[in-house]
Amino acid sequence: LPLYKVMAPSSSLVKKASPTKQRRLPRARRSSQHITALSPQPEALLGATLHWVDHIVPVLQEQEDAVVATSTAPKTNRATPSDETVVVHAGEKVGSMAGTDSITTPIVSGTTHWFKNSDDLIAFKEGRRHSFEYGRYGNPTVKVLEDKISALERAESTLVTSSGMNAIVATLLALVPPSAGHVVTTTECYSEARAFIRDKLSRLGIKVTFVELNDTETLKAVLDKGDVTLYYTDSPTNPHLKCIDIKLVAELCHHKGALVCIDSTLASPINQKPLTLGADIVVHSATKYIAGHHDVIAGCISGSDALISRIRVWHHDIGGTISPDAAYMIIRGLKTMALRVDTQNRTALRMARLLENHPMIERVYYPGLTTSPWHHIAKSQMTGSGGIISFEVASDLHGVMRFIDALEIPFIAMSLGGCESLVQQPAVMSFWGQSGEEKANNGIKDNLVRFSFGIEKFEDLKDDVLQALKKI
Ligand SMILES: Cc1ncc(COP(=O)(O)O)c(C=O)c1O
Repeated sequence: LPLYKVMAPSSSLVKKASPTKQRRLPRARRSSQHITALSPQPEALLGATLHWVDHIVPVLQEQEDAVVATSTAPKTNRATPSDETVVVHAGEKVGSMAGTDSITTPIVSGTTHWFKNSDDLIAFKEGRRHSFEYGRYGNPTVKVLEDKISALERAESTLVTSSGMNAIVATLLALVPPSAGHVVTTTECYSEARAFIRDKLSRLGIKVTFVELNDTETLKAVLDKGDVTLYYTDSPTNPHLKCIDIKLVAELCHHKGALVCIDSTLASPINQKPLTLGADIVVHSATKYIAGHHDVIAGCISGSDALISRIRVWHHDIGGTISPDAAYMIIRGLKTMALRVDTQNRTALRMARLLENHPMIERVYYPGLTTSPWHHIAKSQMTGSGGIISFEVASDLHGVMRFIDALEIPFIAMSLGGCESLVQQPAVMSFWGQSGEEKANNGIKDNLVRFSFGIEKFEDLKDDVLQALKKI
């Protein structure tokens, strides 16, 4: 027998579930082609492990009762496993890999996969037998990660890539045709994605139009010309945490035949699921909340089978393959994502409320605040507002540097979404070297601070911020 074979879920496991439990959560399909036959529904992706959920659901209910956010965004249907369960089990145990019964997904490090004989190879080529072939086209460990993210995003399919930028570039190159394509993007999307669209896509003869994030009238006018291929933006944005009404934009774009791609990195798949709001594609810098530990660079793209297949073809050429080791680290990181993000949501909201009323703070940017101009949108489409807040301190460039230098817990560092709190003054980090005009155009003032909260105790972070504000 080959060392690696796709196995059906253990029938003894399925049989152990009581009829009541089976009613509550549908059991796994018992296809011997289980890996290829995955359905986008999280309950299907959970495979034979679903009966465990009965023990977990009461605990989740208590957590739900304690949720800080006053969101009106659709909650998970009770017939569907919660994200807390999905992040732990989805994609895994659908077929023991490498013939082991290991609880954790094995890291399959081989770059190529062998066939028993030529008939076996031909069966694979004709699609009668599932296998992996060559590491750049797919890997069993990476596939588990992709299925887990699909379950979270309610996607038919996911492609995991070597970085967030790779995910963005592959998406744009695959879905927007050179010469004939037209991309509409916003003035506040991730700076490197924006620069790629503006400087590189335009060189391929692709038309590029920038619209203000919430300027619906201009968007409608641009769409009315009928030639827009794809609308691309972040929501929320960085560092001002502006939110786009994804449902509205998707309706407007679809009406005119344009695709919608949302970079949902700052929300995390826990707080926002753009595909359920009508977006066609969701991308993440998985480097952030998804990996969650500031130790892996990765990206992911989720959507329909048809769209992801088109992107996969480009991905195979570009070669932005993630290593199985990195994929494993993300699978491991993902298991605590719901817990991490819950803590980060709570800390950020409490800190935003505290700072909003602090005499040294001029303005706080956080969509979870009822005073935020984006609160109503965030409330309608997010179940939590995320762990990032930005604020302007009543001081100048140097006063803010003194504040940042006096902080003892957060690292002064780029990035976001991990366990460690990070802080930066965009004027001297992300926007370093840019002209006053460029910074002004991007709303970057010298006194702007951006925090990415980690999972430290709120009280410790609060004490730290308050003592540092006194050092200005
Ligand atoms: C919103 C957003 N999208 C995409 C990226 C790019 O991701 P990566 O650094 O993983 O390539 C980043 C990186 O900071 C980001 O913040």
